[in-house]
Amino acid sequence: MEALAAPRAGRRPLGGPEKLGLTAPRRSSRNPRVKISGVKGMNDILPGAVARWQQIERAAREVFALYGYREVRTPVVEPFALFARGVGEATDIVNKEMYVFEDKGEEKLALRPEGTAGTVRAYIEHGAHVEGPQKWFYLGPMFRRERPQKGRYRQFHQIGVESFGVAEPSMDVEQVAMLDDLFRRLGVVPHLELNSVGDGSCRPAYLSELREFLRENAAALCDDCRERTGKNPLRVLDCKVAACQPTLEKAPRLADRLCDGCRGHFEAVKRGLDDLGVRYEENPRLVRGLDYYVRTAYEFTSDALGSQSAVAGGGRYDGLVETLGGPPTPGIGFALGEERLALILEASGRPAPEERPEVFLVAADEEGRREVMRRAAELRRAGIPCDLDARFGKLKAQFKQAERVGARYALVLGGSEAATGQAKLKDMQTREETPLDLSGLAARLRPSARGS
Ligand code: HAM
Repeated sequence: MEALAAPRAGRRPLGGPEKLGLTAPRRSSRNPRVKISGVKGMNDILPGAVARWQQIERAAREVFALYGYREVRTPVVEPFALFARGVGEATDIVNKEMYVFEDKGEEKLALRPEGTAGTVRAYIEHGAHVEGPQKWFYLGPMFRRERPQKGRYRQFHQIGVESFGVAEPSMDVEQVAMLDDLFRRLGVVPHLELNSVGDGSCRPAYLSELREFLRENAAALCDDCRERTGKNPLRVLDCKVAACQPTLEKAPRLADRLCDGCRGHFEAVKRGLDDLGVRYEENPRLVRGLDYYVRTAYEFTSDALGSQSAVAGGGRYDGLVETLGGPPTPGIGFALGEERLALILEASGRPAPEERPEVFLVAADEEGRREVMRRAAELRRAGIPCDLDARFGKLKAQFKQAERVGARYALVLGGSEAATGQAKLKDMQTREETPLDLSGLAARLRPSARGS
């Protein structure tokens, strides 16, 4: 696990009680004197809260590099048709939640609701298949017009990976294990639920059987379930309404009707996870909200999240590259929600690493100001984070600012320090002062030189 820095003594994250900066009053008006607030469900992540995001992204980059994944960056705007065809027109994501707009009479465009379709488009468009199997990762904002609540936003951030060109179950195992590694590195252990959603040879017959069962039992199901029975019967299994549960428990299970190929694949994935000590629970009712999945489907969930319990989800999509116009290419990937992971980390009480200045330089007098500017430049060139209050007010005000930014030490410099080359270094927590020779200042202030 990554070593975390001690919480900063002074500086508070901006943005109110929710440390993650995920709550903000929303008001807007055309009245020019009323302040304009951000868009509902789209949040600012303010300095102080950003450390959490950086911690997550740093850990992801480190773990992905260990597994040979390389970063790809694709646009946030894509043709609407990409998602309609890729994610599926019958899904809530495409049907109800996408931000779609016309680009001045040109083609219909959409803000990306997820990263897989765009990544697959880029893979095809740039002919990446000729290079053999590829492992790519991405991070960035996604957009879904959902009803905002804790853990569910209209702009949210995903860290996702996609692996192209390998159909073997070892890839599924490696990828799930990688995500498990990432969670471990961050010190959280969400619960892994695993299923096989079959493929083109076993799913159609199962869907007919399921649809028939749902029609026969329609009276015991909620309106949503009844509506989905025709269009997307698998999603009915995902219903959380309590009254539907006794019926859905009795629904035919795809796990019992997998073809030999899918069953063999599923068994190999489970065996591989067992070999690597990755714990999971089989959930035959786990279906995902996107249409492209075949065989392996999984989610990591956490109790810390309340009703939006999935922190990450993924699975195999062996037909997607072909559906989007590329050569037949197996694929598998996952995405995790950064906001949700940040909430879990926050709930676990684990401090976010802090970046605070090592030293705050305080000017005692007019001559001290020039000395502070010179010394700050010297320290920064040597890679030592330091800060100063460029307003150069009273000593007390400068010390107050040193406290606010959480500096570990303060160094007061004035005409006499500049003349003698001797100063005092004050520990901002203990208030202890130690004499300091200003020659070779950077070397003396390096944390390793002080044994910390
Ligand atoms: P997804 O399950 O739709 O999968 O989203 C992945 C994760 O994004 C979720 O587990 C959740 O943590 C986060 N998430 C989704 N919607 C929201 C929201 N409105 N607010 C906050 N967080 C949210 C996908 O998107 C697939 N593209 C994953 C994948 C990659 N499958 C294969 N490759």
